Amino acid sequence: MAAQNLQSVPAERTAGTSETADAEGQAHFDRIIAEDSRIEPRDWMPAAYRKTLLRQVSQHAHSEIIGMQPEANWISRAPSLKRKAILMAKVQDEAGHGLYLYSAAETLGQSRDKMMDDLIAGKARYSSIFNYPARTWADMGAIGWLVDGAAICNQVPLCRASYGPYGRAMVRVCKEESFHQRQGFEILLELSNGTPEQKQMAQDAVNRWYAPALMMFGPPDDDSPNSKQSMAWNIKRFSNDELRSRFVGMMVEQVRVLGLTLPDDQVRFNEDTRKWEHGPLDWHEFQEVLAGRGPCNAQRLERRRAAHDDGAWVREAAAAYAAKQSAKQQKEYAA
Ligand code: 3HC
Repeated sequence: MAAQNLQSVPAERTAGTSETADAEGQAHFDRIIAEDSRIEPRDWMPAAYRKTLLRQVSQHAHSEIIGMQPEANWISRAPSLKRKAILMAKVQDEAGHGLYLYSAAETLGQSRDKMMDDLIAGKARYSSIFNYPARTWADMGAIGWLVDGAAICNQVPLCRASYGPYGRAMVRVCKEESFHQRQGFEILLELSNGTPEQKQMAQDAVNRWYAPALMMFGPPDDDSPNSKQSMAWNIKRFSNDELRSRFVGMMVEQVRVLGLTLPDDQVRFNEDTRKWEHGPLDWHEFQEVLAGRGPCNAQRLERRRAAHDDGAWVREAAAAYAAKQSAKQQKEYAA
């Protein structure tokens, strides 16, 4: 990657005050993208770039916090104290990821309150995957292994996203996701080496989560309206299908170690294209989930709304404390 500290064109000099300033800003932006360097919050950026980033980063933030729900349901039912502690740490990590991402999105000019309002009003998207139920303890393994595995595959390239705050947030997120994937793998491995019933429970969970995990990468490239432009702007580095294919390749190796199978007899490596292929996915189901008609959409939003209401006193207390601190500081400056 080219040096990241290119001379920046400050937003206040270029933010649409005149055609010359816009042209100057655009030229600077184009140069940064061409050099594979980074756009920072105060740099001039095209309105469409800001909008697409805000869309992706806020959806990503929402996914992290809604994603806490299927696993949080299992903390009290985890089979040992150690498992509870690990799962609790994982769920807390997801909350942290949401916070980094909301912060990154705020640098694009959107308030966190507005993003949260859109989420609880059902106007914002979050990942399809979190609208599926977690039925057994083995689902904690399948979520960690497949869902966090898919997240890593999708998000490692995002560490090089052209927007600085997003790329930097992704570095930390990916380190933690890597721990999440291993803990899921380890749950499945233990079940797979357990009683025949436990092994079957692990296999059933993999069967349930495999296709939804593949659909996490988004619609096929031909139906992905945003990919082309996002790739031209170095936000996304690979297409949805490319990442899905890489993910299948990763899973093929790991499922053997687990002693389980992928519920897809069409998985194969195509020697001509040098890509992994998989069987057909139910894109109608995917669209239903996106339209709010998945198995758990209503429940997830309801829970999010309740958590938001329950947390009102915390926000009020924090705001009151901040106001007090600010008044104290003003007094000190005035003295
Ligand atoms: N779930 C919900 N919506 C999805 C989706 C999915 N799995 N895949 C695509 N979509 C939506 C897009 O948001 C877009 O909707 P919009 O235009 O109304 O905003 C539409 O479907 C068309 O899809 P595109 O392929 O054109 O959209 P993108 O170029 O944005 O690609 C993406 C979709 C690959 C998900 C991309 O946005 C991305 O890489 N996002 C960052 C990663 C992310 O958000 N992951 C979510 C999971 S988070 C997670 O896994 C947490 C972990 O702890 C497990």
